[in-house]
Amino acid sequence: MGALSSKFKLGAGHEQIETKPRDTPHHKILFGGRGSPLAMDVTKFSPELQDYLFNQSLFQCKTKEEYISRGFYSCVDYPELPDHVYYEGYFHSQTTNSAVSSINPRDGSPFQKPAAPSSIRGFCIAFRDKNRGRLETIANAIRDIDVTSIMPKPTPIDPSSTAHLTSEEVRLHRNRYERETKDIDYNRSAITAIAKLFTDGELVVGDLAVQVHFGQGVQGDDLGWHYDAINSLFHLAVSIHGKRDLMSMIGDTPDPRDRSVNVDHLNSGDVYLSSPYLFMHAVAYPEQSWQQRTIAVQARFLFTPEMYEEVSRMDLKVREKVAECVAEAIRDGFHYPSLEEVKQTERLLEVGQ
Ligand SMILES: [Fe+2]
Repeated sequence: MGALSSKFKLGAGHEQIETKPRDTPHHKILFGGRGSPLAMDVTKFSPELQDYLFNQSLFQCKTKEEYISRGFYSCVDYPELPDHVYYEGYFHSQTTNSAVSSINPRDGSPFQKPAAPSSIRGFCIAFRDKNRGRLETIANAIRDIDVTSIMPKPTPIDPSSTAHLTSEEVRLHRNRYERETKDIDYNRSAITAIAKLFTDGELVVGDLAVQVHFGQGVQGDDLGWHYDAINSLFHLAVSIHGKRDLMSMIGDTPDPRDRSVNVDHLNSGDVYLSSPYLFMHAVAYPEQSWQQRTIAVQARFLFTPEMYEEVSRMDLKVREKVAECVAEAIRDGFHYPSLEEVKQTERLLEVGQ
């Protein structure tokens, strides 16, 4: 499930679910239900790296007690499928070994996240390092957004032309001017805050939800369609083990009539980068044993409640421009670390401790 989201079933008007989904186009601009541009980058990393990540003790838990003792929660997102087993654990990918303040991804409340195992942190840190230039490009493009050209221009009342207006009309005009001025100031500060997310500290792919699924499958009418929260505007998902299908309701144009169900068949060693905040999606799981279990790490912006509040009230048109900056970078592709780069980053982590 996505962060801070509630799932729902596709209802009337979504007949496309009955047809065979097309394979999701990658490296091109697409559009989802929020009407903003987005892109998807899907890559496979080496079997050696996949083995290395999977063999961490965190991913070898077998009993409920083991999962709980390692910081996982037993989740029930599909109450109609009582034999579907789902554990989720929350971690961070920063260089510190200490817990950091963030939000609970399921309800937005303050939450202390422990450090993920060094291999996973090594992967995320190396990803940030290898893509510094790309992240800087996104931040610069966001900073260049001219909020005043997108939003209504506040017009102060001209005292010499108020003779024909009632006092109530003057009051309403002044209120509108103040509101529009405040909206522009607010959106300017939201733009600055969101640009900083890409370059300051270790916030990009800093918030990790480790998801483990096995047992009864989740398919068809049981799929939980949802949008992620805004911390998934830039979202990296790493398939550690097993299979899952990411179903995405997207289209080639902003026209809602063009939207249809697309699918990515994600297997061990696949990594996808996109903005699931911007499109409705669901994840299908086959029926599988614990040995076949699906393990995926969902990496999002590491937000505090204050950051979340600051960026989530962005004006829709401003958000569309921000989405465009992110989509163009994802369309052009990112670099992913090799096993050697992950191990090298881990060695630096040890030296730094
Ligand atoms: Fe999601």
